[in-house]
Amino acid sequence: MKTPLKILLGSALVGLLVYLYYTEVKPVVIFGLRDEYAHAIPFQKIPEGLTSLKAESCGQCHREIYDEWKTSIHAHAYEDPFFQAYWKKDKNIWVCLNCHTPLENQQPTLVKEIPRGRVEKAVQEPNPHYDPEYQKESVTCAACHVRDGVIYGPFEDSAAPHPTKFDPNFRTAQVCQRCHNVVSGPAQFYNVGPCGTYSEYEGKFFMQERGFICQSCHMPAIDRPVATNSPIRRSRQHLWRGGHDPDMVKRAVGVQVKADIASPKPGDRVSFTLTVINAGAGHKIPTGDPDRFFTVEFSVEDRQGKVLDQQTSTMGRWIMWQPAIVELYDNRLLPLASREYQFTYQLPAQADGLKVKARVQYHILTDKQHEMLQTQYGLTGNDPYRFVVYEREFPLSGGLAAALSASEQSAAMSRQPEGTSCKAGTAG
Ligand code: HEC
Ligand code: HEC
Ligand code: HEC
Ligand code: HEC
Ligand code: HEC
Repeated sequence: MKTPLKILLGSALVGLLVYLYYTEVKPVVIFGLRDEYAHAIPFQKIPEGLTSLKAESCGQCHREIYDEWKTSIHAHAYEDPFFQAYWKKDKNIWVCLNCHTPLENQQPTLVKEIPRGRVEKAVQEPNPHYDPEYQKESVTCAACHVRDGVIYGPFEDSAAPHPTKFDPNFRTAQVCQRCHNVVSGPAQFYNVGPCGTYSEYEGKFFMQERGFICQSCHMPAIDRPVATNSPIRRSRQHLWRGGHDPDMVKRAVGVQVKADIASPKPGDRVSFTLTVINAGAGHKIPTGDPDRFFTVEFSVEDRQGKVLDQQTSTMGRWIMWQPAIVELYDNRLLPLASREYQFTYQLPAQADGLKVKARVQYHILTDKQHEMLQTQYGLTGNDPYRFVVYEREFPLSGGLAAALSASEQSAAMSRQPEGTSCKAGTAG
């Protein structure tokens, strides 16, 4: 072959590879499309007997449910500063809206066609029904309850001023799966899609053995009138607490600390074992957004608070994002699974007043990601992005055994919720 021809063929090949890389390998979004969320929920009209679809108007009669929903992250999934920053990073691509503002009435454009299922190639046109105020309501009442002018719900016998229809899915995990089951795309190598809580939960212990569904823990049961002047019924609070709520995270995590020496003396080598148990979540912890992780931290401090030694371990999933999406490892805890973390310290000859601090923290994202979102993508607000879920101090002296047994008690208490605060999700 002649040299110019070789060069020509060579550069054509490089060109093709670059093209394939950017169109087929380097993804525009980190997940694949599933039919359910490839499209917005079709345009909804106002049910007969009502004057508006807006949450606030439902709240005229369903006051408590409205107030609960308003405090939930579902009501803020669009204005949520973390969403806004990441959305900006992803060039405000339309597909995010299908879960964060899922109704067609809430979206600025209509997606007519998605050639080869590729989101960046979607054919869009302006949506004449777009209501920007409604968009701010994010995962609003109608996203779950309204279809074809009818209000769907869990009852077979409601007497409402609007049309209603019984839908058994409200008492199963099915209502949650549309948005909490995000799959991976072609050439993306995840075990479970990025926000795939639903598939982590399917068939797992809490469901099989105890009949728990998502609502059992995320929508606590309560007996009350569900509308003004209605009879008392078994209802569920529309709270959906999760990773942004330290109390909710504490309910998932049981912690125990032990040491191999009951009262260490100067010169001893003492080993601590901290056990983390997923005692209260029906899915892995952490779950959902792959940014989430826990850290298990030990440190040795002297009387002045000077740190003499420290160790940090992480629990989460680690994903290589570039040049391809490959999950490197996932060491999250399945329901009721536990893991031990060890820390060994050699006490010096002068060990007066030394203490060991053990701490477990939950992170919404890493410090580095947080800084990147602030400096490059306009992250606003002071929402905390990490918090302590367990912290204790243990003296490296005669008092150690007593301090350890006190810490065990509180860990045992924090392991209670599975049986008490979350009732099994049975109907009625
Ligand atoms: C004028 C008052 C009023 C307004 C406004 C109203 N509702 Fe209702 N709704 C009721 C009453 C009353 C019931 C029946 C309660 C019962 O039987 O215990 C009801 C029942 C329901 C149910 C249960 C249906 C079933 O059969 O399972 C749902 C869900 C519901 N409403 C959602 C909504 C939503 C969403 C909106 C706003 C788009 C809304 N409602 C607006 C009064 C109202
Ligand atoms: C229409 C889509 C949609 C449906 C249906 C849906 N969710 Fe969500 N959910 C979201 C989105 C989007 C977020 C994230 C919002 C954010 O953080 O900006 C979310 C967040 C959450 C969180 C996390 C809260 C936190 O503090 O981090 C929990 C818990 C949750 N949903 C539970 C449920 C349960 C239980 C169901 C079923 C009853 C359900 N969701 C149905 C879209 C949905
Ligand atoms: C993410 C989905 C979702 C959203 C958003 C949502 N609901 Fe519900 N709603 C449910 C589920 C699930 C149930 C069934 C709870 C049960 O088993 O009793 C329910 C039940 C109800 C009921 C019947 C009473 C009860 O508690 O069972 C009413 C009334 C209701 N919702 C009104 C509303 C109103 C009003 C809003 C907005 C302010 C709203 N819902 C937002 C999922 C949702
Ligand atoms: C046995 C109780 C239980 C069940 C069942 C359960 N969860 Fe959770 N869930 C928790 C607890 C506790 C947390 C807080 C710990 C955490 O964030 O890792 C949590 C956290 C979450 C989060 C927050 C993740 C984030 O990124 O902040 C989401 C989303 C969620 N659950 C969705 C679901 C869905 C969807 C289902 C049903 C498929 C479900 N959960 C079933 C207890 C439960
Ligand atoms: C299939 C539904 C779905 C789609 C599509 C989707 N999300 Fe989400 N998103 C969720 C759910 C559910 C959560 C909530 C909890 C979790 O699993 O962590 C979430 C959580 C988030 C969070 C964490 C918010 C917080 O407060 O910590 C960010 C950021 C986010 N999504 C950004 C995006 C962006 C950007 C896109 C588009 C590229 C997108 N999402 C597309 C369902 C979706």
